[in-house]
Amino acid sequence: MTPDLRVFADPAALAAAAAEEFFLRASRAHAEGRSFSCALSGGRTPAAMLQIMSEDNSLRRPPAGSWNDVHFFWGDERYVPPGHPDSNYRMAREALLDKIEIPEGNIHRIRTESGTASAAATLYEEELARFFRLCPGAMPRFDLIFLGMGEDGHVASIFPHSEVLAETTRLVASPWVEKVHSYRITLTLPVINNAGCILFLVQGGEKAATLRRVLMDAPCPEQLPAQAVRPGKGDVVWFVDQSAAPNAPCGL
Ligand code: 6PG
Repeated sequence: MTPDLRVFADPAALAAAAAEEFFLRASRAHAEGRSFSCALSGGRTPAAMLQIMSEDNSLRRPPAGSWNDVHFFWGDERYVPPGHPDSNYRMAREALLDKIEIPEGNIHRIRTESGTASAAATLYEEELARFFRLCPGAMPRFDLIFLGMGEDGHVASIFPHSEVLAETTRLVASPWVEKVHSYRITLTLPVINNAGCILFLVQGGEKAATLRRVLMDAPCPEQLPAQAVRPGKGDVVWFVDQSAAPNAPCGL
């Protein structure tokens, strides 16, 4: 199946379009009388989009001008305190959450200060079960999950050859990641693949070769975990900049 690939001239255009897509989908949920659940990705790429989302202008506004029905989660988190420079939560706080009127109860961070990484994963699973009112064995269905992609093809904190690739029942895992010499906490693939929409944000020439392999090569998710992102009943949309897809037409 041809991937839904949208190529933008540069990171600024990508960030602006991703912010628009967020508000479009959040407004649809609002129009249906529903809250909007969004899992944020980490790393560097999302910061510019979150910054734009924090700006108060008519083009990009939360549904009915209010964040009250928007709930933020994280797709993964580094096993560091919430105020640590490497924290994905801290990045989102600084770029967006500290600048908007959003109820604290709508911010569902991964509580990495809860003892072990495994304990943080269990607490996060319990939060997901509460928020999504899950029956035992059920999977949460996020309206939107943002994902980045590493140069090695990892998504969230699911790295090549990770045991998490084979996880079929847990909602959240806490793998040791040798590459970064640290524990991580991450949504598992059954949760990711149950989302209404998965929006990849990929930029930078250093990712071009991997992106091409992920989209064009035969599936080998052990080596390229991004290829394991195949939602059963949802969309996968790739927002990439021209440097990450130099051979693709830049339509936007
Ligand atoms: C993290 C991530 C990770 C990230 C990719 C891309 O916690 O680092 O969630 O999966 O999205 O590594 O990161 P960049 O946007 O920094 O390239």
